[in-house]
Amino acid sequence: MPDVDGERRVVISVPKDGFVYVLDADTGEFLSGRNYVPANWASGLDEAGRPIYLPDARYWEQPDGRAVVSPGGMGGHNWEALAFDPEKHVVFIPAATMPALYEASAADGLMGDIGVTFDGEYGSKGDPDWEAFGELVAWDPVLQTEVWRARHALPMNGGVLHTAGGLVFQGLAEGYLVAYDAATGERLWEAPAGGTVRSAPSTVMADGRQYIVVSSGNVATSVGATGFTSYSSVPRSRSRPRLLAFALDGSVAAPPWAEIPHIPAPPAARRDAALASAGAEIFVAYGCDGCHGHAGVSVGGASTDLRLRPPASAEYLRAVLDGALVARGMPTVEMTDDGVEALHAYLVNLAWDAHEGQDTAH
Ligand code: HEC
Repeated sequence: MPDVDGERRVVISVPKDGFVYVLDADTGEFLSGRNYVPANWASGLDEAGRPIYLPDARYWEQPDGRAVVSPGGMGGHNWEALAFDPEKHVVFIPAATMPALYEASAADGLMGDIGVTFDGEYGSKGDPDWEAFGELVAWDPVLQTEVWRARHALPMNGGVLHTAGGLVFQGLAEGYLVAYDAATGERLWEAPAGGTVRSAPSTVMADGRQYIVVSSGNVATSVGATGFTSYSSVPRSRSRPRLLAFALDGSVAAPPWAEIPHIPAPPAARRDAALASAGAEIFVAYGCDGCHGHAGVSVGGASTDLRLRPPASAEYLRAVLDGALVARGMPTVEMTDDGVEALHAYLVNLAWDAHEGQDTAH
């Protein structure tokens, strides 16, 4: 246990790697550190604050060059604002458990070409190594222990606000603003925000009235990483950006949820499944999902939802990649003919899956 006697000015850092670090504010000296989410890559930190690595997570040393590592690259904690209770000395952490498959290609070896895959569907296939979820963690940085934790269904939620009245506010990916009892973690109140929340709420006084202000909705305010659509929103929380202000006796109706689009029948017949799965890899490797969304599900904004408008033919896709829509924001992408065929198969089959299932879960 850490040796922090009396008063000491410290810096508390909660990076992606899953550990809370407490450092001396004047010298940077490492004082203590402990994981706030499960970490399968390190058993702990040594006296200097360096990680004690676990062999199973060293993917480049595995026979197949692969390992599922948790926290993954999106972190235990990403950019969302933390909160701190200066009286009780509790840190509130918007945490995520989002394991990722790391893969070192045999050709490149260590520190070479590292492929990282997040696959939310593994969790639902019952493999606990892959389960993805979010948490609000109340953490005592002196004792380096958890005070309480509240679990969320999706991993990428909003930043945190702590108030002097003993409440902690956090917005959720599913589109609710929630208030917890800061001491116990009891869920005291919630209100629909009409859209997903990733920003941190803030509080202001105006004319003697206290407001809790938070932004919600697509892209501009909250869903920073469109490639993680299904981790940061549900279909009805993919709505346009809004700024909301809550007050105790507020009288404005809750904002409406997004309308869930009906997916029309695609303009081309289903294609070969193996070709489509090669296309799925290209879609991620070329960063198409960064604009068009995880599995082609857009979170709004300028980029087309490709389930609604899959390319009618490989020729059309070739023209798009060659720059036909560059003036509208679709970049020019160099691609082999085989790559274009595979991408076309992927996008057409994706649209068929969505059309037939009218799959609203992602
Ligand atoms: C920088 C963001 C960005 C990236 C990266 C990107 N796109 Fe696009 N894409 C767009 C935008 C914006 C449009 C919409 C153009 C418009 O409004 O007509 C678009 C349009 C398209 C269309 C045409 C849809 C239609 O309306 O017919 C296809 C197909 C497409 N993209 C496929 C891809 C593929 C495949 C990749 C990866 C190789 C990719 N895009 C990468 C932004 C992007």
